[in-house]
Amino acid sequence: MLSPLTPAYDSILELAPYQTGKPVEELKREYGVSDVVKLASNENPLGCSPHVTLAITEQLGQLARYPDGNGYYLKQALADFNNISAKCITLGNGSDDLLDILARSFVGSDDVIVYSQYAFIVYSMLAKMQGATDIEVPTQRFGHDLAAMRQAVEDNPKTKMVFIANPNNPTGTMLEHKALREFVASMPASVLVVLDEAYIEYSPESNNRALLDEFDNVVIVRTFSKAYGLAGLRVGYALSSPAVADLLNRIRQPFNVSRIALAAAEAALTDQDFIEKTRVSNLEQMRWLEKQFDALGLAFIKSHANFIMVEIEDAVAINQALLEQGVIVRPLAGYGLSDWLRVTVGVAEDNLRLIDTLHSILNDD
Ligand SMILES: Cc1ncc(COP(=O)(O)O)c(C=O)c1O
Repeated sequence: MLSPLTPAYDSILELAPYQTGKPVEELKREYGVSDVVKLASNENPLGCSPHVTLAITEQLGQLARYPDGNGYYLKQALADFNNISAKCITLGNGSDDLLDILARSFVGSDDVIVYSQYAFIVYSMLAKMQGATDIEVPTQRFGHDLAAMRQAVEDNPKTKMVFIANPNNPTGTMLEHKALREFVASMPASVLVVLDEAYIEYSPESNNRALLDEFDNVVIVRTFSKAYGLAGLRVGYALSSPAVADLLNRIRQPFNVSRIALAAAEAALTDQDFIEKTRVSNLEQMRWLEKQFDALGLAFIKSHANFIMVEIEDAVAINQALLEQGVIVRPLAGYGLSDWLRVTVGVAEDNLRLIDTLHSILNDD
């Protein structure tokens, strides 16, 4: 029987709300701990560029005014930065907003979405939201198995969209440009390949921007939330053909990026020294964490981003023990990886605190 609670699609009932990293304030409230280290949401532990503060301050007198719905200045800056026309850019309230706009623009309930096992969980959520069929292709060594994904598209002629996260969250795996290009070239023109490059600043060698010059069915989605350190402001962007951008711009909300976020992102983009500093610090700390995991006898997956997945028996209990001692990491049971934790690479002090705490938990001292 129909009721006001009957969702648009039955698959919506299968959706669980997205599990975010526990906020620091929540942990303080729940566990009464005062000194909290959060290594759970792949945020930049160095914060953001100092240029951002000035840009935000300049906007404070204008808060009664709507932002520029077309984000003219940020789009111009992104067009220069990516050597692309501003007509190819769509702005979003974080890249999650763009993934959502993409699914709403192109995927109907008769369509199929293909993605990899252990890929960013939002892709399967979007399929359920649209009442579409989702095909999760088994992973190959924790990464995307492009040959199997190609086969899945071939086997499912109603495939409308393929999501690929590169580097992938939560596994940190990265695909070679050549393999990705071959994959895109093998796709029917009717299939939109969405490359989610949320962590691309940590692996610039894998930049696939060139695919846009060759293929009209590629969309690249990026964010200011990770290396640029603006997760709290919510800004992302999509690069695509002008025709795809035109459709996305019809679907997005008219003022989906705030005045402050637009100004902050533009300022952040101009400070590539900060991005370089971020990359160097991340790499140095990643190598240190790898050594510590080796010393603790814990297996990990080589990561190309700003987090690392570590295998740990009893991960649920270990996660709980870490929380009680004020250390927030990300358990991965929701991904079917119940023996793994994902740790965001922090600054030296935070990483040391994690390793010391982990050491004391594992050695029961
Ligand atoms: C692969 C990937 N894509 C997209 C996002 C969404 O980030 P945001 O909406 O903050 O841009 C995340 C965040 O964790 C991510 O890991």
